[in-house]
Amino acid sequence: MSATLPRRRPEAIPALHPVPEYLASGERKRRYEEMKAVFQTPWMGVITMAYAHYETFYGVLWDGVRDLCASRAFVEAAQNLRAFTDAQAATLAPPPLLTRLTALGYAPREIDDIRAIVEVFAHGNFPYLLLATLTRRLLEGGEFGVDAPVAPFVGRHAPDVRPPFVLMEAHHADAPTRALYEDVKARLKLPFVNTDYRAFARWPSYFALAWGDLRAVVGTPAHEAAALAIHDRAVALVDALPNPDGLTSAALRAAAERDAPFAEVQEMARLFQWLLPGLVANVAFFQRQLAA
Ligand code: 2OP
Repeated sequence: MSATLPRRRPEAIPALHPVPEYLASGERKRRYEEMKAVFQTPWMGVITMAYAHYETFYGVLWDGVRDLCASRAFVEAAQNLRAFTDAQAATLAPPPLLTRLTALGYAPREIDDIRAIVEVFAHGNFPYLLLATLTRRLLEGGEFGVDAPVAPFVGRHAPDVRPPFVLMEAHHADAPTRALYEDVKARLKLPFVNTDYRAFARWPSYFALAWGDLRAVVGTPAHEAAALAIHDRAVALVDALPNPDGLTSAALRAAAERDAPFAEVQEMARLFQWLLPGLVANVAFFQRQLAA
């Protein structure tokens, strides 16, 4: 299946203009709130904030997938992808962290707080990854939509956010954490630090240890094999989804063209679709480091 949507990183890092939640207003803000409610996530992904810079594109996309994302089929696809990702992360043999955290002085309650925040991302990244895959498929001229009844998902599939959801932005951080962010960007070959790492760095000494283990693995053949397998699974899952709102490639491409040169939007979307399989593998790695 991936032959029709190969894993690929844009040759050059495209321009990214994420619209932060505090700057969003009007229809954009309404869609942000709706998206978080449907995904059951406490944060807007950098991906969808970058999509939202292209307002027509974002509007047509979200209005065209909202019912799908609220469906049982979508939630089950996300759960399937999460279980698959966790198995891939296990192949990377994450070293246990509990003894090292305890030696630093972390109390069990604090370790539980870290676990709770890791769980938020270990759950919440999957709708973003499915959406990234679907979006790239449509922008590249593909379609999706199996003929199947669409039932809404009823209830809660996300964890509750117990500890405060705090992001350590680079300008909040002291020099060692800022240096760590530079290392994260360099190792991951990205121009920004994903929300996940900024949330985990709210405990700087924890994140330094967790990242120290992961950085030895990122970029190895085993890590790339895991990311490729996750990409392939995401493509297969997206190709098995229904399309209740009938979103087409032509409609999404036309929307993108109204906002900017098409290639600009396409390369931006490709970057996120490339990075997310690695990101979910990394979060699953962090989660396994914290297993009792
Ligand atoms: C991010 O916001 C989607 O978690 C991802 O960086």
